[in-house]
Amino acid sequence: MTGVNDIRTAFLEYFARNGHQIVPSSPLVPRNDPTLMFTNAGMVQFKNVFTGAEHRPYSRAVTAQKCVRAGGKHNDLDNVGYTARHHTFFEMLGNFSFGDYFKDLAIELAWNLVTREFGLDRDRLLVTVYAEDDEAHALWKKIAGLSDDRIIRIPTSDNFWQMGETGPCGPCSEIFFDHGPHIPGGPPGSPDEDGDRFIEIWNLVFMQFEQVTPDERVSLPRPSIDTGMGLERIAAVLQGTHDNYEIDLFRHLIGAAVDLTGVPDAGGNRPSFRVIADHLRAASFLIADGVLPSNEGRGYVLRRIMRRAMRHAELLGVREPLLWRLVPVLTAEMGRAYPELTRAEALITDTLKLEEGRFRRTLARGLDLLNEATADMSSGATLPGDVAFRLYDTYGFPLDLTQDALKGRGIGVDTAGFDEAMARQKADARAAWAGSGEAATETVWFALRDRVGATEFLGYDTEVSEGVVTALIKDGREVSRLAAGDEGIVVLNQTPFYAESGGQVGDAGTMRSPATSAAQARFAVADTRKMLGAVWAHQGTVEAGEIVVGQPLELEVDHARRAEIRANHSATHLIHAALRQVLGDHVAQKGSLVAPDRLRFDFSHPKPVEAAEMEAIEDLANDVILQNGAVVTRVMDVDEAIASGAMALFGEKYGDEVRVVSMGLPPAPRPAPGPDASLASGPASGAPSDTVSGGPARTGTNVPPWSVELCGGTHVTRTGDIGLVAIVNEGAVAAGVRRLEALTGEAARHYLHKQDQRLRAVAAELRVTPEEVESRLKALLDERRKLERELAEARRKLAMGDVSGSAGAAGAGPEIETVGDVKFLGRVVHGIPSKDLKGIADEAKRKVGSGVVAVVGISEDGKAGLVVGVTDDLTDRISAVDLVRLGAAALGGKGGGGRPDMAQAGGPDGDKAEQALAAVKGALGEMVGV
Ligand code: ALA
Repeated sequence: MTGVNDIRTAFLEYFARNGHQIVPSSPLVPRNDPTLMFTNAGMVQFKNVFTGAEHRPYSRAVTAQKCVRAGGKHNDLDNVGYTARHHTFFEMLGNFSFGDYFKDLAIELAWNLVTREFGLDRDRLLVTVYAEDDEAHALWKKIAGLSDDRIIRIPTSDNFWQMGETGPCGPCSEIFFDHGPHIPGGPPGSPDEDGDRFIEIWNLVFMQFEQVTPDERVSLPRPSIDTGMGLERIAAVLQGTHDNYEIDLFRHLIGAAVDLTGVPDAGGNRPSFRVIADHLRAASFLIADGVLPSNEGRGYVLRRIMRRAMRHAELLGVREPLLWRLVPVLTAEMGRAYPELTRAEALITDTLKLEEGRFRRTLARGLDLLNEATADMSSGATLPGDVAFRLYDTYGFPLDLTQDALKGRGIGVDTAGFDEAMARQKADARAAWAGSGEAATETVWFALRDRVGATEFLGYDTEVSEGVVTALIKDGREVSRLAAGDEGIVVLNQTPFYAESGGQVGDAGTMRSPATSAAQARFAVADTRKMLGAVWAHQGTVEAGEIVVGQPLELEVDHARRAEIRANHSATHLIHAALRQVLGDHVAQKGSLVAPDRLRFDFSHPKPVEAAEMEAIEDLANDVILQNGAVVTRVMDVDEAIASGAMALFGEKYGDEVRVVSMGLPPAPRPAPGPDASLASGPASGAPSDTVSGGPARTGTNVPPWSVELCGGTHVTRTGDIGLVAIVNEGAVAAGVRRLEALTGEAARHYLHKQDQRLRAVAAELRVTPEEVESRLKALLDERRKLERELAEARRKLAMGDVSGSAGAAGAGPEIETVGDVKFLGRVVHGIPSKDLKGIADEAKRKVGSGVVAVVGISEDGKAGLVVGVTDDLTDRISAVDLVRLGAAALGGKGGGGRPDMAQAGGPDGDKAEQALAAVKGALGEMVGV
């Protein structure tokens, strides 16, 4: 028997041998189609290649594509578990021709694969063609030699394949396998075709058209081929069963569930085991592709899938979370073909466990309520809508879970009543909000939030996607279009743009109409913000064309800017951890800004961070960058996250579920920071590079990550992506709060480069090597201080020198005079800084021995300084302060101050120096009674 993994490989290799490029599966969340909830066929990733808008270096391709059909146009959720072939998740094998071969080779390749490679009995095969497709009919006859009764013409849309409301489409031809008369069912097109006997195994679509809008269909540039073969179905055929859940992959998954629960897979339990196995696959692959459970959009479909599986586990009597324990079995089965599954194993496990744990708390009570409400009901009855709504609102029962739970008893649910109850609740919430006094302009957002729902954020996984415009805002009002040149806000159903929060600035980038459309609209996004916590507001300007509601747009985040933001955000976490390690656990984040060009971090700390501490902080952060470990994001219950030691911000509001970002291992210990730390440890960059391997204690798998924070921001993949962090500033912002600024990557490198350039320039100016700059500068400063001292001394001497001599340069004044019984020496000196006047006055005091001195210094700009000195023996009679004030008045100045023995003042009128001296002398005369 051939296993699922072998069949997948055989298919890919067969087409590779026939000139096809093997292309990996695209993600389940389509990046190139905003109208699709999930990738639902192999051709989705090639949509634009078919229409000619996108070119690839190959014209033949083959894929094994992950698909989900739950929610949206193709929705199989309700049937899963109860039939042999419905799945929410399945793999589609397909070969594609982009204008290369058409019907003939497609039919030949398909026929040869099933009959020769897979060895199916040709007598058990029959095909269908679109009723008017004579060409396909003739080709089947010629290539496969099938008789007319085995080529069935189907006149309905069953043989015309469409991806969705729009997109490439065309007539198709399907290959059916006859499981034999022991299974009930009729051939395609017959009244009992829905039975299990004749099973479609392969659909060949002859892509010829593009549905541009629901009313307009155009021809594709070149006829192409798109085929789809459900891997689970062909595996069933090749493994001799008509039941997909009997194939090896499902037997292994169900077998593991049986082992874990101890419940046999028999009788009424069978649907539950199937639901669990199917939904485990869908949930795990969706989580691996970035979808997380939520109450909106894709996240809600995921939640519905998960909760439906959990109710079935409950039906089996399982009381402990089960799904997460099956994840290793799933990755063992499928992880080789889809490595993303293995990479996301921890995230999948956490998410399942968390959702199961939470739902379990209300599941039993909800089921009790349901049983009570339906106790008297019999088949054909209807559960009132408000009961279904209460189950939804209070117990977390998605509507389809309630429907599923009652299906077996033939009881329906009043879905209109459910919708009414939902609408009523929203209206009540709106009324409550309207009374809360929020600004009137916000009303528009509340209405929008209600009408168009939350925006789905795709930006953790991609920076490019499509989105449909759901609303436009201009000058605070909703509008239906934005014209070229208009500034406004665009709201979309989904977006890769990060909206400002948690200190991280909003993304910038571009939106443009798809290459396929005639419109040439372009909108430059300057900033992105989140309104009411749910609606993404992309604010910017229409650069070309016009933007209208309902229009699909290609969205592209400014990648370089986002990369810088990511590096700065991860570096912020590293600096936070380093601050706590170096300064202590009192350090708490008080604010942060993560911008493309820098990061800013405010934190509690009572005093300036010393240079050596700062160096240690920067070193620690850089050590962890060099470790180049993966940055791991997990989703947890908020209480669990905080209990696990994640740093949360006090006063910040977190949802029930939080993202927890961890990075780094504790770096190798360094010498304690101190004055000699840098000498003791050698140059910072010379630190031992064993930080990755470290000592045995740090390499054990149990070592907790160095930095763990609750964070909704975007981060680098590995710490090495940060490159380098350089702290450039540190200062106070408020009492007990410090702020530092840092740069990363290129910006850090440029900064350090610039610093180095400056140092070299200084060295060149000083004519020494950079290493000698410090000692040279110190020597120069010492020398300068010495010269200044000498110069002051010389000036003093000069000022008090022989008056009749050349002292003219320094000014002249009368000889020592006597005023009453007091000696008085007055002088005017030029070109002497006022700070030196006191020294001159001291010198003068020494010269007179006992008396009063007054020195007026006239500076280069003509202003005057005045110092009056009184020798100690006279200070009880004469105050220098009084005298200096009177002198200053003559100089046009005010005030003056000092002590009784020495006081200083100044004034603007240097040319009144003599008058000032005269004023001082006159006042002295009055004091001594002359
Ligand atoms: N796109 C086609 C399908 O999904 C092959 O059936």
